[in-house]
Amino acid sequence: MRVIAIDGPSGVGKSSTSKEVARRLGWAYLDTGAMYRAMAWLALSRGVSDPGDVVELVRGADLEISTDPDGFRIEVDGIDVTEEIRTDAVSAGVQTVSGVPEAREELIEKQREAIAEKPAGIVVEGRDITTVVAPDAPVRILMTADEDVRIARRAGENHGTADAEAIAATRALVADRDAKDSQTTSFLTAADGVHTLDTTHVSFEEAVEAVLALAKEAA
Ligand code: C5P
Repeated sequence: MRVIAIDGPSGVGKSSTSKEVARRLGWAYLDTGAMYRAMAWLALSRGVSDPGDVVELVRGADLEISTDPDGFRIEVDGIDVTEEIRTDAVSAGVQTVSGVPEAREELIEKQREAIAEKPAGIVVEGRDITTVVAPDAPVRILMTADEDVRIARRAGENHGTADAEAIAATRALVADRDAKDSQTTSFLTAADGVHTLDTTHVSFEEAVEAVLALAKEAA
């Protein structure tokens, strides 16, 4: 089983690290957060928020996600939502989907199918990959970083700057989302057998190399 499972809170650098590890290994890459985001986009655009209706929406939706680390696209019901899923509105509303256990089950099933389709190797990132989606993965990592560092990184990505205004706006969004997410998924402490990779004082390249070293050790 060639699977690297990576979990962690927002702004920790999971996506960029996972993507780069996948590239260097020539493996596929699955961004499970994008799946929750795409379903949240659909729920928002249809005005659906009742948990029962959300489950129906998720069950009926045709979700297509690419697993190419160099050409990420995601479509829902034939609509390309690659850009739309990154808006603040979707980030703020994503728990309309991720907070509903039955909706999660549907998406977890799709994630397991996507993993099974890539026996040559896949890097999967999210919040519950090391514990629920792929607890048998030979490499399981929890990425962490001090909250201030995560917020500054996310502010830089979203606002192109980490000035006081951008930091304040980002802090509210990040802290709120992590607090809500931690009610449904356990990504703040490492489960048994899961390696912790603290990136507070670690460069991007060092983080990538640390993951590759763990993968080599497990091979
Ligand atoms: O990682 P990203 O910020 O794109 O994830 C968006 C949201 O999707 C998270 O805030 C969380 O609510 C949800 N999520 C989840 N389980 C995962 C991945 C993401 O609940 N495995």
